[in-house]
Formats: sequence, C-alpha cells, structure tokens
Amino acid sequence: MRFKDKVVLIIGGNSGIGLSSAQEFAQEGAKVVITGRSQQTIDEAVASISGAVGHQGDIADVTAMSPIVEAIAAAHGRIDVLFVNAGVGAFAPVREITPELWDEIHNINLRGCFFAVQACLPLMGRGSSIVLTGSVGSTAPVPGNAVYAASKAGLRAFARILAKELVAEGIRVNVVSPGPIETPLINRNIGMGEAEVAALRQAMIAAVPMGRMGDPREVARTVLFLASDDASFVTSADVCVDGGALDLN
Ligand SMILES: NC(=O)c1ccc[n+]([C@@H]2O[C@H](COP(=O)([O-])OP(=O)(O)OC[C@H]3O[C@@H](n4cnc5c(N)ncnc54)[C@H](OP(=O)(O)O)[C@@H]3O)[C@@H](O)[C@H]2O)c1
Repeated sequence: MRFKDKVVLIIGGNSGIGLSSAQEFAQEGAKVVITGRSQQTIDEAVASISGAVGHQGDIADVTAMSPIVEAIAAAHGRIDVLFVNAGVGAFAPVREITPELWDEIHNINLRGCFFAVQACLPLMGRGSSIVLTGSVGSTAPVPGNAVYAASKAGLRAFARILAKELVAEGIRVNVVSPGPIETPLINRNIGMGEAEVAALRQAMIAAVPMGRMGDPREVARTVLFLASDDASFVTSADVCVDGGALDLN
C-alpha cells in the first residue's frame, strides 16, 4: 500500500501501459484519475478500477488539461503522482515523412506532454513525483522511426531539465523507457498493414535478448517504483524496461 490515499493522475490511463499502471496504483491504495481520448475505453477502465475517476482530454489541444486539473483541484486539492504516459507511434522512412505526420506525432508525444505537465504543476508539491513514458526508440537507430524517436528524445530532454528545475521544490522527475511491449499501440494506425505489423513484431522480438515482448505490467511495476518513496533518491533517471534490447544498439 505504498500509495494509500495518494492522488495519482495518469495521462493516457485507459489503455496498455497506462491502464496496467492505473490498476497497480489502485491496488496499492491510490485515488486514481485517468485521462485519454476514447470515452468508451475510459468508461471501461473506470468501471474496472475501484474508486477511479476518468476524464476525456486530447493533449494535442493544450487547453484540454485545464478543466481536468480544475476538477482534481476541487476534489483533492493536489496531485501526488503524475504519470504522463500518452503517446502515439508512426513508422515512415525519412523521405516519406510529411510536415503533417511530424506535427501529428509531436503535438501529442512532445508538445502535448510538455504542456500537460505544465498544467499540473500548480497542484504538485514537496514529496510528489512525475514519471514520463519515453521509449528505447529515443536512442535506438531504428529505420522508419525518425518522427517517433525525435519526439521521445525531446521528451527525455525536457524531463531532465524539469528534474533539475524542480529538485529544490522536492519534486522528483523520472522517465521510464519501454522496449517492445504488447499493447494496442502496435495494432493502431502506425502506417502499416497487418502483414507489416506481424513482421515488425517478429523483428522486435528478435532484437530483444530475452526473446519476447514485454507485458504492460512489467513497465507498470517500474513506474510504481519510480513514483514511490522507494525511489526517494532517484531523479532525472531514464529507466529502460526492454529485456536488454538497448544494449544491442
Ligand atoms: N508498446 C510499446 O512497445 C511501447 C514502447 C515504447 C514506448 N511506448 C510508449 O508507452 C506509452 C503507452 O503506450 P502503449 O504501448 O500502452 O499504447 P496504447 O495502449 O495505445 O496507449 C496509449 C495511451 O495514450 C493515450 N493517448 C494517445 N494520444 C493521446 C492524446 N492526444 N491525448 C490523451 N491521451 C492520448 C491513449 O488514449 P486513447 O486510447 O483514448 O487514445 C492511451 O491511453 C506511449 O507513450 C508509447 O509511446 C510504448
């Protein structure tokens, strides 16, 4: 019960890694608030997590977090743990990347996440912590992954500066960087057909020394560690949960 009565906001908490984390936080006593774009999966997630509350909000719209933060301020007056997990992927070779694709990904993964953090900061104080979901893709040179990699590298960069800016206020900031994890992300519109997705999955498994994709719960447990007092001397870290994949680059 490391999070008993703690207020935990998960941006992108209705699917995959975020949903798994929401379940684990709730099991450890947290008051969980999740956000996402899909009202249907928000409702399903909230129904499955004891005491959870859900809000719809697309972080590509930088004003979307304001009413959510206001609602949390009215209900709890604070955020103890902020998990900024929302993200989307897209594969395209450099020659085929359009400004529209670049903006679509960066408006969520980088700009959206940055301003979501900024919107939440007024509710965060000493002893609270922020975890952001990066990716091993931010440093691994995977062909076709330039847009996504750049967005996650940007997120990692601002997280480290945020960690420095907030250290005197007693707020810790860390990044969790998953390798290939079995979530709905890979089956979404990432610019590939079914056969290409199957081939990508095989290629990803081949790149992991542990020889498998990760389970979202394996990322969630690292998120909970970083968010908890167990990590009281950990800030500005980037923890890979990737079965050793990054070592191959
Ligand atoms: N799975 C992997 O192999 C892998 C590897 C490295 C990093 N990651 C990162 O892990 C994070 C979670 O991804 P996942 O694998 O768990 O995939 P997922 O199941 O697709 O989850 C993505 C989450 O982000 C939310 N989201 C996306 N765009 C949003 C927006 N504009 N505003 C608000 N919420 C938004 C989604 O909500 P909706 O469903 O409502 O859109 C969903 O909750 C992402 O940041 C991803 O880049 C994943």
